[in-house]
Amino acid sequence: MLIMVALLIPPGAARADEARDLAGGRLLAEQHCGGCHEILGSAPLGTTSSVPNFSMIAQSGQTSRQSLQQFLSRPHGMPDQSLSADEVNLIIVYIMSLRR
Ligand code: HEC
Repeated sequence: MLIMVALLIPPGAARADEARDLAGGRLLAEQHCGGCHEILGSAPLGTTSSVPNFSMIAQSGQTSRQSLQQFLSRPHGMPDQSLSADEVNLIIVYIMSLRR
């Protein structure tokens, strides 16, 4: 029975995984990046217009998973943000999901 269900709904299950990753990434982004960056529609807490918002970053042709990975492997804006590699990945998935 379980196998039947698995066979019937793999696309839905994949979407559920993806949705969970996106939600997780967004939450992490809000917690760790939202102090400076605008996270899709939410104004940054400290309004510094020089900080690119995540939607702009996602639209840029320069941006890729690799470029984000590389950029985020070094601290920027503030000292070490102590994110795990998994957390960084979720944030990257979230940022790339904003690309239109
Ligand atoms: C203390 C403020 C601050 C925090 C917190 C912060 N950033 Fe930034 N971020 C900046 C500033 C300022 C810039 C632009 C200057 C630069 O590139 O360093 C920037 C630039 C970036 C860029 C490069 C944009 C480009 O031009 O390509 C990315 C990507 C980025 N931030 C992602 C993140 C992510 C993801 C987080 C959370 C894990 C985060 N930032 C947290 C201030 C911050």
